[in-house]
Amino acid sequence: MKNILILGATSDMAQAIAKKYAAEGWNLTLAARNMELLHPIASDLRVRSKIEIISLEFDALEFSNHRTFYDSLANPPDVVICVFGYMGDQMLARTDFNEVQKTIGVNYTGAVSILNIVAEDFEKRGKGSIAGISSVAGDRGRQSNYIYGSAKAGFSAYLSGLRNRLAQSGVHVMSVKPGFCYTKMTESLELPSALTADPEQVANAVFKGLEKKQNVVYTLWMWRWIMLIIRHIPESIFKKMGM
Ligand SMILES: NC(=O)c1ccc[n+]([C@@H]2O[C@H](COP(=O)([O-])OP(=O)(O)OC[C@H]3O[C@@H](n4cnc5c(N)ncnc54)[C@H](OP(=O)(O)O)[C@@H]3O)[C@@H](O)[C@H]2O)c1
Repeated sequence: MKNILILGATSDMAQAIAKKYAAEGWNLTLAARNMELLHPIASDLRVRSKIEIISLEFDALEFSNHRTFYDSLANPPDVVICVFGYMGDQMLARTDFNEVQKTIGVNYTGAVSILNIVAEDFEKRGKGSIAGISSVAGDRGRQSNYIYGSAKAGFSAYLSGLRNRLAQSGVHVMSVKPGFCYTKMTESLELPSALTADPEQVANAVFKGLEKKQNVVYTLWMWRWIMLIIRHIPESIFKKMGM
């Protein structure tokens, strides 16, 4: 039976991904920083399926614990999905560098720290798939969220480079750019329904993308074209658009 490790397993997207993989018969290792939130999620999945489910504590910002965390996994994973993220408060980040550090720490440094360790293991084993949930916010910096966007841009570039490096080793790396998605992270925002996915749509796109060994997945197809247009708007015009 195949094993998946989901990092940031209390996230709404991660819960949908866990349900999808459980339904497909995979064993789950669910890792999150808040065990009080994670335990009922794992218990609910256990009631619904006959697979093995392990819950572990994992904090993306505790970089020095990442190797011990990974080395002590009971089930070596076939797939690792890095879902955790922090949108941050852009206005606060203008003046409070702690907010900047937290945003970069969770979305970039923490992800790189743990995925470097996963990549080393997968490269040695000559197999495995890594997926990272990045964001279209990283495709072009905008005034409304450029600290989060720049951390996700770094993460997207990291995943691209990792994919490039591991292509000859039999290891697959997939970047996921969900566009808008209805989750805790966006519950205070008014999102356009035609451009907003449900966590289940993201989960299905992640599962399908990994099965087909896709490189970059936009979970609603139109986001690929929206971002293509946005990336090509000349800077002289873009800076006046106030996005
Ligand atoms: N929702 C969207 O529109 C959207 C769009 C593009 C990309 N994304 C990305 O999608 C991913 C999933 O987010 P979501 O939308 O499902 O939002 P969410 O439900 O708020 O999930 C965010 C998750 O990140 C976890 N997290 C934050 N800091 C952490 C840390 N230091 N260590 C470990 N885990 C930490 C949170 O854990 P706690 O439960 O402990 O807080 C939470 O489980 C994120 O990477 C996000 O940036 C979201």
